[in-house]
Amino acid sequence: MQYSIPKNFILGAASSAWQTEGWSGKKDGQDSYLDAWFKSEHFVWHKGYGPDIATNFMHQFPEDVALMADIHLTHYRTSINWSRFFTDYENLVVDEDYAQHIDDVINALLAAGVEPMICLEHYELPKYLMDKYDGWSSKKVIELYVAYAEIVFKRYGDRVKHWFTFNEPIVVQTRVYLDALRWPHEQNPKKWMLWNFHKTLATAKVIAVYRSLDLDGRVGCILNPEMVYPRSSSAADQAAAHYYDLLYNKVFFDPMVKGVYPDELIHLCRENDIYFDPTAEELQIIKDNTVDFLGINQYYPKRVKSQRFAWRAGEPFHPSKYYEDFDLPGKQMNSSRGWEIYPQIMYDMAMYLTDNYPDLTWLVAENGMGREQETDYKDTTGVIQDDYRIDFIGQHLSYLLKAVDQGAKCEGYMLWAFTDCVSPMNAFKNRYGLVEIDLENGLKRQKKASANWYRSLITDRVLTI
Ligand code: BG6
Repeated sequence: MQYSIPKNFILGAASSAWQTEGWSGKKDGQDSYLDAWFKSEHFVWHKGYGPDIATNFMHQFPEDVALMADIHLTHYRTSINWSRFFTDYENLVVDEDYAQHIDDVINALLAAGVEPMICLEHYELPKYLMDKYDGWSSKKVIELYVAYAEIVFKRYGDRVKHWFTFNEPIVVQTRVYLDALRWPHEQNPKKWMLWNFHKTLATAKVIAVYRSLDLDGRVGCILNPEMVYPRSSSAADQAAAHYYDLLYNKVFFDPMVKGVYPDELIHLCRENDIYFDPTAEELQIIKDNTVDFLGINQYYPKRVKSQRFAWRAGEPFHPSKYYEDFDLPGKQMNSSRGWEIYPQIMYDMAMYLTDNYPDLTWLVAENGMGREQETDYKDTTGVIQDDYRIDFIGQHLSYLLKAVDQGAKCEGYMLWAFTDCVSPMNAFKNRYGLVEIDLENGLKRQKKASANWYRSLITDRVLTI
């Protein structure tokens, strides 16, 4: 089967600052939320390699950019590490060494014909702001973040045209305050909802600042909505899917795209004592500053069924009050990561967006496949033959292109990740890259078979599966 790829369709790749840079040049006090978490009892270093080295992008980025040009990536997405951008977060004293590094990366990308896309926060909230203000619980942190964004826009906005406020803004507080799985391990559902709200408000305020600067680009946010599939067509299973979608997806989609929260969500928050008490002025800012576009990260489907147990009075709120996970018999799994593989999510999510947010322009900001022990797939010349990744990308892209053909306003696909990189879950254990980082050979870069395949896809603009 062949699919033609529209001429201007973005075909790029993504990573983030923390997952690639390494700590070289990092100054005292520049820890991020992720550094703090990794240094807590839950860290996992892989064979001695962790975020301290990462891919050493800080020094080896020229090699990576040359490879991006060789593969003909149209765009590359990364982040600026907020925790490294300042030496003093309150008085906004810029770390000029780090800021210069960002300049150098942007200039190198542009010189290589690769458009940069920059995210302002990919889980890189400064630990200092977490300790002092309880992170996104505080309006002061919103103020400091907006000031950070303004400095960044003024410095790089002449060259960078695509900006994102957050990568997956729901993730940290879900792990910390709903599930209490991560540092600082505090179960607090009201705080979960407050962080959701404050990141939405921060996005709107950053968009307002960007527009006031009259720059020639656009600002959005990268969300990780999960395509929700109910176990059956029964009313109870459908309701479970509806609530999951409301609490994990629409909680960001509606205010960011339509400028208003769904009435049902407000009601549900009040009923469950997780309401975030916005002021009329804050709601107006959200209404006036909706996103220019969105990045959508897609990896796996979410399958739910109705909740069998009644929520006991006094139990802390959790969205699973309304649903249970459903384990689909016979599902195809990526056993390295424990995620279901279901390429149809790409088409279904595109249709969901078309139906619910018809005016929204978006792109897939992440999709990809992590695999353990990839070195087992090296051929005699030492090249990793990652046919499983080629198959994964091809299948997912085919569903996306089908949706584009039917009018979905999706402008591109960014693969996670360009090179292998450090995962916040397991350091280097799962490899996602088109390009191998050979840990045993001085972090040598080597294209995998998928890199050559992706290159042909980009140059020929035809997907054959
Ligand atoms: C995305 C994140 O959700 O998933 C990335 O934006 C992350 O930062 C990627 O690396 C893959 O997940 P993981 O946990 O396997 O690294």
